Amino acid sequence: MAYLSIGTLLSLLGSGVSVPAADSNIIPIEGYTEFLLWASVAVAALVGVLVIWAIWRYRARAGDQEYAPQIHGNTPLEIGWTVAPAVLLAVLFGLATYFQLTSSRSAGAGLPKGRPPDIIVIAHQFWWEFRYPKLGIVTANEFHIPVKQDIVVQVESDDVIHDLWMPALGEKMDAVPGQTNYEVLYAPKPGSYNGACAEYCGAEHAWMRPYAVAQTPAEFRRWVRHEKTLPAKPTSQLAKAGEKYFMSNTCIDCHTIAGTKANGRVAPDLTHFGSRKFIGAGVMTNRTQNLKAFLKDPQAVKPGILMPDFHLSDQQVNELTAYLEGLK
Ligand code: CUA
Repeated sequence: MAYLSIGTLLSLLGSGVSVPAADSNIIPIEGYTEFLLWASVAVAALVGVLVIWAIWRYRARAGDQEYAPQIHGNTPLEIGWTVAPAVLLAVLFGLATYFQLTSSRSAGAGLPKGRPPDIIVIAHQFWWEFRYPKLGIVTANEFHIPVKQDIVVQVESDDVIHDLWMPALGEKMDAVPGQTNYEVLYAPKPGSYNGACAEYCGAEHAWMRPYAVAQTPAEFRRWVRHEKTLPAKPTSQLAKAGEKYFMSNTCIDCHTIAGTKANGRVAPDLTHFGSRKFIGAGVMTNRTQNLKAFLKDPQAVKPGILMPDFHLSDQQVNELTAYLEGLK
């Protein structure tokens, strides 16, 4: 794409806003948005140059009369400044309509016919649940897809309106309570893809970042097999104590760990937590010190998150950390 992207522009301006990169070959409407941006810049620049030129050209000079000649009406000019913007707007309207119709697959339109969803995405304050109904696996915040395949995604919300935005993989799609939306995600090449929640949904809106890993079909099958296996049982004394604490407290009412009695669905599935890259939907990388800080006081790490501060002792934090890190 020859145009400078809006994300690059924001970072050049030092806004500190990071916008996930998009590939406009996949989403033509993205290219149109950038065309619109630069067309607007060109019009604004033209107006600016004309104003500065007029100020300079018609500035007051020695020997001028007190009042400049007064002019009323100019039919060719008036027709010109009416017709030119009308034509420009008509062209933009036509292009916008065309791209809207060709790239929108919302509400099932344009979905592969009669094909059930590959992934059901459920938005929660403030994390993402990914359920693969055909494969029987569930994960949170981080999900895998095979490359070069249309992935039919059903988007739902558990509480308020969110918006799943994986710009390099497909459209933005609202997650609306009581409504089911559909979209297609497509990864052109293997790698990891960042996303964001694109609809303000509360205190931690900024930290519900979906993260996709696109893999070759063979790698994806390996990942699916891994996800379907139960996590290893804890072996160290510390991790065993952590498991005992987890299973005898309210952790199990909110979280699921496959193969145990923990089957809550309010909070992220932790079955393979140890193999995830991030904690708290992107707020921290999944490292021992970070996990300890999170367990010690989730509200300090991610204020407004629904997980309360359980006032755990350092020993309990160490035990839970050892247990959770072992869930691979
Ligand atoms: Cu979820 Cu914003």
